[in-house]
Amino acid sequence: MAGKKTYYQCTNCSYEHPKWLGRCPECGSWNTFTEEIKAAPSASGSSRKAAQPQQLADIPEEPSFRIASSITELDNVLGGGMVRGSSILVGGEPGIGKSTLMLQLLAAMRHEKVLYVAGEESAAQIKNRAKRLSVHERHVTILCETRIEHIHSVLRKLKPDAVVIDSVQTLVSEEIGLVPGTVNQVKHGCMIFADWAKQTGSAVFLVGHVTKEGSLAGPKVIEHMVDTVLYFEQGQAGVRLIRAVKNRFGSVDEVGFFTMESDGLKPVTDPGSFFLEHREGKLPAGITSAVIYEGTRAYLVEIQALTVDAKGSYPRVYSDKIEVSRVSRVMAVMEKHLGISFAGQDVYVNVAGGIRLNEVGIELPLALALYSARSGRPLSRNISAAGEITLAGEIRPTAFLDQRMKTSIAMGFDRMIGPVQAHNFRGYTGCTSIQEALQAAYGPDASGA
Ligand code: TYD
Ligand code: MG
Repeated sequence: MAGKKTYYQCTNCSYEHPKWLGRCPECGSWNTFTEEIKAAPSASGSSRKAAQPQQLADIPEEPSFRIASSITELDNVLGGGMVRGSSILVGGEPGIGKSTLMLQLLAAMRHEKVLYVAGEESAAQIKNRAKRLSVHERHVTILCETRIEHIHSVLRKLKPDAVVIDSVQTLVSEEIGLVPGTVNQVKHGCMIFADWAKQTGSAVFLVGHVTKEGSLAGPKVIEHMVDTVLYFEQGQAGVRLIRAVKNRFGSVDEVGFFTMESDGLKPVTDPGSFFLEHREGKLPAGITSAVIYEGTRAYLVEIQALTVDAKGSYPRVYSDKIEVSRVSRVMAVMEKHLGISFAGQDVYVNVAGGIRLNEVGIELPLALALYSARSGRPLSRNISAAGEITLAGEIRPTAFLDQRMKTSIAMGFDRMIGPVQAHNFRGYTGCTSIQEALQAAYGPDASGA
């Protein structure tokens, strides 16, 4: 590849052109073009003026920092809408609904100028999807294009408030080579558009497929280059979850819930008992209902545990919805402080609805499920639990206990077991230790097997 490339740039508006021009086609100024040199394969973005130091106090405050889309489930995950000037990666397996969500998002942004860049689908295919979603808004512009330089120049002309690039794996830059989807192509495209967002104050959504075979560079390779990383994943109960795994402008503990219907993604605004198996009669052994609090709301989730004689010489913990290290730690605390032995046992842990949990409040319900599985004693179905367990076997205070209790009561549980905290709910048992919690749940004779 050639080392240096000469081009001409308007000193007024940064418009670039390979030849000298008397009048800038972008801003109309005369005699503003100067010769510039850029090293290939540099990003077009790197040709901008070098930054100058400035006093923190002199930096003007951004007037309206965020754009809300009115798709509340998504806005919440973003921390209250998308931040102007930010880049947001939306990852997920093919078919999960990324393109659908993005089109619905742009359609919902009625007061903004928005652009959907389609690299995978034709305009007619997008029109079909829009029809299915009843999207008739006139503010959405579609560009079917994969060449980075061309998309970049359209962006400069159109200056949209928000743009979706679907997907990063289809982007190609001739500077990088002709094969889309390589790590370099994906990174280069991401850099150009994230940089463009920062310079112009637009919000850029970069869609990336998570692929199993690894023939395409996955979204992981650009996670560090963007401000926010969202993953869209499938739960078992037909629900699709979107969560932030990185958010420079908000927390990462809000989860958005959707179901895919024949006319698009519909929010599940009240997930309260969505993740409970609705059973009749007594619960089987190994099941507990956990009161989870993520982001801004509480909901109930069924935790399932099973212990069986180990198949191999080393017993194992199988758990992909709750981290294995957390399960092992809770088991170790139970061995030490309750005298319950898991020696020679393979342990399986699952969460109904396929939702992944990394909230500390699941530890107590997890311990109760493990006890129930190991002892064969089912837990009464009207009991829910939440609480964090220390290595010393204590139950730590848990955030948002009031909201958890209210949700638990609303979902028909008349008892809840958790940490000792000030409250005035009937049916709540506060416990200082895992022993106390076990006895509250299973009666005074509950102990290590
Ligand atoms: P899509 O958004 O294309 O997924 P991705 O971009 O993540 O690959 O859509 C995923 C699936 O959803 C597809 O199989 C068709 C289905 N679908 C519906 O069930 N209802 C709808 O309204 C739409 C638009 C799609
Ligand atoms: Mg798609």
